[in-house]
Amino acid sequence: MAQKSIILVTGGNTGIGYETVKALYASPDAYVVLMGSRSLDKADAAIKTLQSEVTESQSEVVPIQIDIEDDASIERLNKEIESKYGRLDALVNNAGGSHDAAMRENPTPAGIREAFDHTYSLNVTSTNVLTHTLVPLILKSSGPRILFVTSGMSSLDACSGGSSISSAHKAGLPSIPAGWPKQPVLSQIAYRSSKTGLNMLMLEWQRFLKEDGVKVFCISPGFLATNLGGMGPEKLKEMGAKDPSLGGLLIREVVEGKRDADAGKVVNAAGVQAW
Ligand SMILES: NC(=O)c1ccc[n+]([C@@H]2O[C@H](COP(=O)([O-])OP(=O)(O)OC[C@H]3O[C@@H](n4cnc5c(N)ncnc54)[C@H](OP(=O)(O)O)[C@@H]3O)[C@@H](O)[C@H]2O)c1
Repeated sequence: MAQKSIILVTGGNTGIGYETVKALYASPDAYVVLMGSRSLDKADAAIKTLQSEVTESQSEVVPIQIDIEDDASIERLNKEIESKYGRLDALVNNAGGSHDAAMRENPTPAGIREAFDHTYSLNVTSTNVLTHTLVPLILKSSGPRILFVTSGMSSLDACSGGSSISSAHKAGLPSIPAGWPKQPVLSQIAYRSSKTGLNMLMLEWQRFLKEDGVKVFCISPGFLATNLGGMGPEKLKEMGAKDPSLGGLLIREVVEGKRDADAGKVVNAAGVQAW
């Protein structure tokens, strides 16, 4: 019998991460899906929901504690995967967040620094530390893939009004009247610049690991109704966000090799996102 692929999804207990675990669990292919979660209680509750939503599966889903901002947690996870499975076939770097709202509430230098530091620590630094730690296990796979969940908001082309800009993005980038201080605008300056940084991280890992046969991608899942930013899924739906299952299905396609021709790029549902 073929070995089950071992897939780790960070932030797998909710939102797009949960939908990724669910899409893999519902696949006709067989996986061991490691549902990464900061809290094992949250993972256990999410697995109960999953098993009530998907009643037949070729796969197993296993809760695993991971806080990507905590080096001890990363090391424990690394040792656990090494001792139980000896390799990792796909790493889905999904855990991430937007902390711009905190900066709007406290627009002082200290508040701005804190929001930027938290956002970059989570979306860039910690994602890189986890990836770096797990590379030896990834190199033991016969078909290794690394995915980084980025955003449409990371696109330099879209932000600068380039040819790839969609009407949704245009609406999100109204021109801002002259004068200082600016009236509060729904800016995502820390989030979007951290995700542009994440795109560069992906390119660097693609370059480092290309000759090792590792396929590396960014995934741009689209605007989806999750807890991102803290407004809650219902509010995001009112703003036009779609069902997070779309993100899970896109990520599954990439994990299953259907988008291998796009390795080293930012993959979205329509094709490839402009840088
Ligand atoms: N929703 C969108 O429209 C959208 C669009 C583009 C990209 N994305 C990206 O998609 C990814 C998933 O976000 P989401 O929309 O599903 O948001 P979400 O519902 O807020 O889920 C975020 C997940 O990340 C986890 N997380 C946060 N900090 C962590 C840490 N330090 N260590 C480990 N896990 C941590 C959260 O855990 P807890 O449950 O413990 O908080 C949660 O599981 C993010 O990278 C986000 O930037 C989202």
